Amino acid sequence: MAYHLKPTTLAFKTMPAPTLTTNRLLLRAWKESDYPLFAKMNADKRVMEHFPSTLSTKESSALATKLSEELEEKEYGLWAVEVPDITSFIGFVGLHYQDFEGPFTPCIEIGWRLAFEHWGKGYAFEAATKVVDYAFSKLKLRELVSFTAKTNKRSQKLMQRLKMTHDPADDFEHPKLALGHPLRSHVLYRLKNHSK
Ligand SMILES: CC(C)(COP(=O)(O)OP(=O)(O)OC[C@H]1O[C@@H](n2cnc3c(N)ncnc32)[C@H](O)[C@@H]1OP(=O)(O)O)[C@@H](O)C(=O)NCCC(=O)NCCS
Repeated sequence: MAYHLKPTTLAFKTMPAPTLTTNRLLLRAWKESDYPLFAKMNADKRVMEHFPSTLSTKESSALATKLSEELEEKEYGLWAVEVPDITSFIGFVGLHYQDFEGPFTPCIEIGWRLAFEHWGKGYAFEAATKVVDYAFSKLKLRELVSFTAKTNKRSQKLMQRLKMTHDPADDFEHPKLALGHPLRSHVLYRLKNHSK
């Protein structure tokens, strides 16, 4: 059910995503100087607790390149987040096209990952609020989803803070994780664009 997508404009090449700003944050294109900081957070067990594993420097760099390319090629992506005058890179927040096999895909997901020392300051909420506004008012999406392992309560708290809604009937087993994997059970949250 791809009812919330405009696949021709959103899944394929259009134009680079714009820079977004909030009171405290800059959501921008990725820079080479982000890579070592991104590798450090991807190697942190606290940040990666609800993922199958931490990432090596090589894996982290490959991911940064992929995210950077998505942001260059589409009108959206997972933006690198900076706190101007305070710190050059704290992680990513943004939108990602998902087309793995599932009842709610293809879809556009809102997602986030911040370095541990930047948790608990409202940065993810502030960035995500701006991304929701961009997704609904500029991209005119009808719906955003977010999903995470059932164990990831912190991420779910952020979804709730964004007023995303959860119907247990939407919960699913992530097809990219093996049967019996402790992180396989996922919750799905949705946010409708009420102006559509
Ligand atoms: C999920 C994640 C982004 C949440 O980060 P976060 O900092 O807890 O989220 P928020 O930006 O909403 O911040 C909320 C916290 O900041 C506090 N806060 C402080 N100043 C604030 C402000 N100005 N505005 C809002 N909240 C503020 C809130 O009270 C809240 O504190 P609490 O954790 O004690 O409840 C972070 O835990 C993370 O990167 N996790 C690892 C990656 C991950 O799991 N990603 C999702 C996978 S699907």
